Amino acid sequence: MTILVTGGAGFIGSNFIHDWLSQTNEPVVNLDKLTYAGNIENLSSLSDDERYTFASGDIGDAELVRKLLFEHKPRAILNFAAESHVDRSIHGPEDFIETNIVGTFRLLETVRSYWDSLEDVDRDAFRFLHISTDEVYGTLAPDAAAFTEKHRYEPNSPYSASKASSDHLVRAYHHTYGLPVLTTNCSNNYGPFQFPEKLIPLMIHNALAGKPLPVYGDGQQIRDWLYVSDHCSAIRRVLEAGKVGEVYNIGGLNEKANLDIVNTICDLLEELTPDSQFSRSEKNPEGYKGLITFVTDRPGHDRRYAINAEKINSELDWQPSETFESGIRKTVEWYLNNQEWVQHIVSGEYRDWVTKQYA
Ligand code: NAD
Ligand code: DAU
Repeated sequence: MTILVTGGAGFIGSNFIHDWLSQTNEPVVNLDKLTYAGNIENLSSLSDDERYTFASGDIGDAELVRKLLFEHKPRAILNFAAESHVDRSIHGPEDFIETNIVGTFRLLETVRSYWDSLEDVDRDAFRFLHISTDEVYGTLAPDAAAFTEKHRYEPNSPYSASKASSDHLVRAYHHTYGLPVLTTNCSNNYGPFQFPEKLIPLMIHNALAGKPLPVYGDGQQIRDWLYVSDHCSAIRRVLEAGKVGEVYNIGGLNEKANLDIVNTICDLLEELTPDSQFSRSEKNPEGYKGLITFVTDRPGHDRRYAINAEKINSELDWQPSETFESGIRKTVEWYLNNQEWVQHIVSGEYRDWVTKQYA
C-alpha cells in the first residue's frame, strides 16, 4: 500500500511525511510544485529512504497526476497543497484561486477517474483526505462558542474564501459521485519547518536579527494554537478511522492573543540566548520586548478563532499531546538549532516579500 501526499514540501506536509514514516512502513509519494513555500530541504533526511518518492509538479496537472496514480496506485490521497498565507492572498489573490480552487477541482476530477477504475474492494478502501482550515468559519465574538463542524461558512479573506470553496468541491464530489472523502478543519499550527512569513517563525527570526517585531493593530486578535505534530497525529487518526463524508475540526485548546505569543517568544529568547546583543542588559533594559512595534492592521483581520474539537475527541479518541508551553519551547529551540535552514530561505523572494508587506 502507498499514500500520495500533495504539498508535502511545505510546513505541515513535510512534518506529516516525517511523522508518517516514523509511525509506519507504508511508502509515501510527495507531489509538490515547489512554490516559494515548498522546500525540499525539509525532507533531505529522507533522500536515501526507499519508502519516499518525490514528484515535482502541480496538483492541477491532470496528465502528471494520472500518471502518478496509475504508477503508484495509492490507497489514499492527502491534499495539503495550497497557497496558505493570508497576507499574500490580500496582495495577490489569483494564485489562491488557481491552486486552492481550480487546482483542487482538477485534482478531484483526476482522482475520481482513477477511483472509478479500481476494483470494488480497493474502491471501498480508498480515501481522499482534504486538509483545510478553521478560517473558513470566519471570525468569532469574544464570548461566542468555539467553531463546531456545523458552524456556518463565513470566510473573510481571499485565502479563506478559496479554502472554503475547495471544501465545498470536496463535499460535492462525495455527494454527487460517491468519492470517499474526509475533510479536516484545523486551527493555527506552529513548529519546525514553518516558513518565516507566519507569525511565530517571523517573530523568532526578526528578534534574533534585532529587527522590529511587527504586531498588527492592537495585537489582541486571538488564534487557537496547535503544535504541528499534534495536527499530524489527528490526520493519521482521521485517515485510519474517520467516517467517509464527515468533517472533523482539529484544535489545540490554546486560545492566545497575538501580543501574548510575541511576549512569550521574547521571554524564551531571553532565557535561551542571554548573550545576544538584543537580549536584556543594563544598556538595553527592555531586551527583545523593546523590538515590539505596532503596525497597520491586516485588512479584514479576523478577530478570534476557536475550535471545538469535541467530535474528533469523542468519536476518534484524539487529543493533542503538547501544551502551548511545551510546543512553543520546542519551536524556539528548533529555530535556534536550525539557523542554516532559515538562512537558506531568507534571501531573494523572501526579502522582496518582507519589503512589500512591512514597507
Ligand atoms: P505551506 O504554504 O507551508 O505549504 C504549501 C505547500 O504546497 C508548498 O510545499 C507548496 O510548494 C505546495 N503547493 C502550492 N501550490 C501547489 C500546487 N498547485 N501543486 C502542488 N503543490 C503546491 O502550507 P502549510 O502551512 O503547510 O499548510 C498546508 C495545508 O494545511 C494547506 O492546505 C493549509 O490551508 C492547511 N492549514 C494550514 C494551517 C497552518 O496553520 N499553517 C492550519 C490549518 C490548515
Ligand atoms: O487558522 C488557520 C490558519 O492559520 C491557516 O489556515 C493559515 O494557512 C495560516 O497561515 C494561519 O493563518 P493566520 O493568518 O492566523 O496566521 P499568521 O501567522 O499569518 O498570523 C497569525 C496572527 O498574527 C494573525 O492574527 C495576524 C498576526 N500577525 C501576523 C504576522 C505575519 C501579526 O500581528 N504580525 C505579523 O507580522
